[in-house]
Amino acid sequence: MTISKFLTSAILIATLAASACSTNNVVHEPQILSPEENTTIQTIMTRRSIRNFADNPVGRDTVDLILKCGINAPNAMNAQQWELRVVDNQKWLTDISNVQTAPSQTESKERNMFRGAPTVIFIAHKPNSFTPIDCGLLGENICIAATALGVGSIVMGGPTSTMNTVPEFTPFIETLGFSQGYELLYCIGLGYALEKPEARPRNEAVIKYVD
Ligand SMILES: Cc1cc2nc3c(=O)[nH]c(=O)nc-3n(C[C@H](O)[C@H](O)[C@H](O)COP(=O)(O)O)c2cc1C
Repeated sequence: MTISKFLTSAILIATLAASACSTNNVVHEPQILSPEENTTIQTIMTRRSIRNFADNPVGRDTVDLILKCGINAPNAMNAQQWELRVVDNQKWLTDISNVQTAPSQTESKERNMFRGAPTVIFIAHKPNSFTPIDCGLLGENICIAATALGVGSIVMGGPTSTMNTVPEFTPFIETLGFSQGYELLYCIGLGYALEKPEARPRNEAVIKYVD
C-alpha cells in the first residue's frame, strides 16, 4: 500500500468512526439495566406523597436544583407560561394557616395548611388550554428531582383552591407577586420526610394496547 492510499484509508476510517459517534447517528441499543437497577425507574416508582415533615426547610441550593429540573419539563411551544414562588418563611406559612377559614388540620403534627411542609412552591400559569399540562409536567419533574435528592414532596390542590376562592387569602396571594395575567394553580410542599408511606394502589387495567 502506498503512503497516499494508507492516508486515504486512515482518513476514511476516522471519518466513519466520528460519524458513528455523532449525535445525528443515535444507535438504539437494548436497555441492559433491569428496572430494579435503573435509578430513574426506581426514583419514579418510589416517589410518594409525604404528609409528615421535619421542621427544617430545604436548603435553597437544593431547592434551586429541584426547580431547575422543574422548568426543564416539556411545555407547549416552549412558551414557559408558568411562574414559581418559593416560600420557606415559616411566619408566612403559619400566618396564612391561622386565617379563620383555613382548611382544618386533621393531624396534630401538622404545622400549617400545606401538610406542614416547611418549604412550599406556589405555581401559577397564564391560562390557556396547554398551561395546566405544562404545569403538571413541571410539578412531576420537581417531585422526581426532589425524590432523587432525598427530599420529600406533596402536590396540593386543596390549599390553593381555598386561597383562590376565599377573600381573606387575597393578601397572601398578592405577596407572592405573580405577574399580571397569571393565576395560582397549585402548590408543592417540600421537606425532609418523617414517614415512608406505602404506594397507593394503581389500576393497571387503564392501560390498553390498540392493535
Ligand atoms: C392535582 C393534585 C392535587 C392534589 N391535592 C392534594 C391535596 O390538596 N392534599 C393532599 O394531601 N394531597 C394532594 N394530592 C396528592 C394525591 O392525593 C396523591 O398524589 C395520590 O393519592 C397518590 O399518592 P402518591 O402521590 O403517594 O403516589 C394531590 C395530587 C395532585 C396530582
